[in-house]
Amino acid sequence: MELLDAIHQRRSVRDFAEKPVPFEIIKKSLEAGLKAPSYNHLRQWGFLLIRDPKMRLALTRTEEMTEEVTEQLVQAFEGQDALAKKMYLDAIPKQKKMILTAPELLVVVYRPKTQVSESKRIYDLNCLASVWCCIENILLALADSNVFGVTFIPKNTPAVKTVLSIPQELEVAAIIPFGYRAPEAKEVEQKNATLDARLHINMW
Ligand SMILES: Cc1cc2nc3c(=O)[nH]c(=O)nc-3n(C[C@H](O)[C@H](O)[C@H](O)COP(=O)(O)O)c2cc1C
Repeated sequence: MELLDAIHQRRSVRDFAEKPVPFEIIKKSLEAGLKAPSYNHLRQWGFLLIRDPKMRLALTRTEEMTEEVTEQLVQAFEGQDALAKKMYLDAIPKQKKMILTAPELLVVVYRPKTQVSESKRIYDLNCLASVWCCIENILLALADSNVFGVTFIPKNTPAVKTVLSIPQELEVAAIIPFGYRAPEAKEVEQKNATLDARLHINMW
């Protein structure tokens, strides 16, 4: 597949076929991740593949439906456009299931420059920006082999780190369930962002 085809075909997939992903594809995709640009040249990223069902169950238990989370969900719905609402309605009930049942579950970690809570400038978040370049490379390389995933951002990363024995100095960027698409996989229509509406020349 050409790079631009992979870019256009990548989608967030939350329903997976019960078909294993060959390790060669995983290896190629993680190596593509490690080629991403990095703010400090050091590519301080790491990967965990979680295959033990007990570990996956423990991960889902870190995501409690607290009042705070419920409130965030309610707010996410307020003022949303129709397509975003459709996406949330499809995605929310699948969050735990995809973590438990996806053929592969990847956790991407990075070394923070500044703790997110102490960041004052965009510059302080360069480490987070870099790890997302890595994540996009992985998603595109997977799409290149017709394998798809979705980025899930855990709310309680300290608990995730404890479950997975991730060293204190590292942080969790995303949890990515991935695999081949289920035949009945649902994909909400993508928001069409046209360049005409988004491009400005010289002044906004
Ligand atoms: C930073 C970020 C966080 C996301 N968090 C979640 C998430 O927690 N759960 C989920 O199901 N999808 C999540 N997504 C996927 C988005 O819902 C998805 O990318 C968006 O709806 C556009 O659809 P597409 O990826 O198929 O183009 C996230 C995507 C990004 C970039």
